[in-house]
Amino acid sequence: DGFQPGPVLLLGAPGVGKGTQAKILMGKFGIPQISTGDILRDHRARHTQLGLAADELMSKGQLVPDDLVNQMVEVRLAGTDCATGYILDGYPRTLAQANALDSFLQSDAGEPENATPVVAISIMVDQEGLLKRITGRRLCAQCKHIYNIYSNPPKVAGICDTDGSVLEQRKDDTEEIFEERMREFHTLTAPVIPHYRAQGRFLEINGDRSVGEVTESIEEALRMLRARVTG
Ligand code: AP5
Repeated sequence: DGFQPGPVLLLGAPGVGKGTQAKILMGKFGIPQISTGDILRDHRARHTQLGLAADELMSKGQLVPDDLVNQMVEVRLAGTDCATGYILDGYPRTLAQANALDSFLQSDAGEPENATPVVAISIMVDQEGLLKRITGRRLCAQCKHIYNIYSNPPKVAGICDTDGSVLEQRKDDTEEIFEERMREFHTLTAPVIPHYRAQGRFLEINGDRSVGEVTESIEEALRMLRARVTG
């Protein structure tokens, strides 16, 4: 029916399914997925200055400083492919990042009333379920497809169904680092939710269902939020 979700934020704890869902929405709506985690991992793999600065913190499960991430996102959002919408996956992760995003969008639009408001969706899964998702996650190094040895295994163990590449495990996907990522999430990221909730631009959905069911709920929530913010 031509529905376009516009700018969307996918929020939620580590392993909740943000990347899985963002990739599906990208395919459905033809808008880019912008994952700050993926951009940082790409910098790390290329040994850029930003990658080197981020590496130690990421390996410990801690957030990278706001100014580094904000700058990275501001540059990415200026891309022409972001004009009709995008899915931000894993950003904003602190209140300072949410405020920075508000100011990029306003300065970009010229007048505040010209800016298409972002809408935010938080996916919820309990902590025990998250640990299984994190420790069971495997990624294709080539096409970046996300698998899970428990819930979404490849046809041949360790090999990508699409391109035959060897699957990898992220180095922060251990139980110990997951605990630290959860601590960072509760202390630094949780305050982002009231920021969007207070503006009526936020909905929470249950992520403890099949991938397809979660996608359906996200789509439904996006339609409700768009109807709400555009009056
Ligand atoms: P980032 O890469 O953003 O990691 P994260 O937020 O911890 O999220 P994940 O990528 O682990 O999980 P996800 O929610 O995308 O889940 P996925 O779809 O893969 O960040 C990594 C690091 O980078 C941070 O610790 C920080 O250092 C830095 N960083 C990034 N952004 C930053 C920012 N803005 N500011 C500061 N620092 C930043 O799914 C997980 C698993 O579950 C998969 O195996 C999948 O197959 C499976 N799964 C998914 N959906 C389902 C389902 N419905 N049922 C069963 N299994 C499912």
